[in-house]
Amino acid sequence: MPITQPLFGACRTIFAFFGTCFNEAGFYLVRTLFWQFRKPRYIILLGPPGSGKGTLATQLAPALRIKAMSTGDVFRREKAANTKFGRQVKAHLADGSLVPDSLTLAIVRRELIRPRYWFGAIEDGFPRTIAQAEQFELLLAKWGVSVEWTVLLDVNDDDLIDRLSNRRTCTNKSCGRTYNLKYERSVEAGICDVCHAPTAQRDDDVPEVISARLRTYREETQPLCNYYQVRNVLASVHPTGDMTKQEVFVLVKAALQG
Ligand code: AP5
Repeated sequence: MPITQPLFGACRTIFAFFGTCFNEAGFYLVRTLFWQFRKPRYIILLGPPGSGKGTLATQLAPALRIKAMSTGDVFRREKAANTKFGRQVKAHLADGSLVPDSLTLAIVRRELIRPRYWFGAIEDGFPRTIAQAEQFELLLAKWGVSVEWTVLLDVNDDDLIDRLSNRRTCTNKSCGRTYNLKYERSVEAGICDVCHAPTAQRDDDVPEVISARLRTYREETQPLCNYYQVRNVLASVHPTGDMTKQEVFVLVKAALQG
């Protein structure tokens, strides 16, 4: 094995360690000094795969002046970089099962203390189990805050399957824009309009894995609707198949204001 490989690994670990120390210290300072002037906002987007959580997150983020965080994107990034976390989540991404709660919580906490989330986050796809929701509630309580709103996007199964099997995603990780072969094509087929990288179908957007993801959602994530309903922070919207993204966004804004 060339000597550069372990050296590279050691450097990455050292940088990660100092990065985490910086984030922890910065987060602590911001929480202590600035949260009293600008309260952080934590918004959860709940819904089956393909319901439009990622789409809505990109619309809500500028409107609420906080960044969106997709656990699915974080896991795919870790997998692509072949990190220790990435190797642990790989099999779950492939078969549509959930990444274990303890691992998910560790990654979410690590992300939330990064500077981009110092004033809150739109959580796209987290929590997905009651255990995750309880742990998240405890974490926020430790920070002296709580979940402000949970938005449920309730879309019927036929529309979900249609959207997911036609979704294409930009392969450039820092872009990640999504297209749809039916509703929203790129100008040049297979090429991202924004960064001109190739677009591709996500590994888990194939029929067998889509069915598994929908099953996992019904069994493990749907019970969260009741969890947030009793806490009085659930806003449900039911976008029909013929509604545009902009119409869904308007519906959600109205639900949050009402
Ligand atoms: P993740 O990446 O979060 O996938 P998902 O929840 O299955 O959701 P998607 O990203 O597929 O869909 P979306 O709801 O964001 O819809 P989108 O806006 O793209 O998770 C992947 C995996 O990671 C999981 O299977 C699991 O293994 C793991 N994981 C993630 N979080 C976890 C957690 N907390 N715990 C444990 N494991 C976890 O829209 C879909 C398509 O529809 C697009 O083509 C879009 O253009 C189109 N579209 C959107 N809105 C409309 C509209 N109004 N009209 C027409 N088309 C529309």
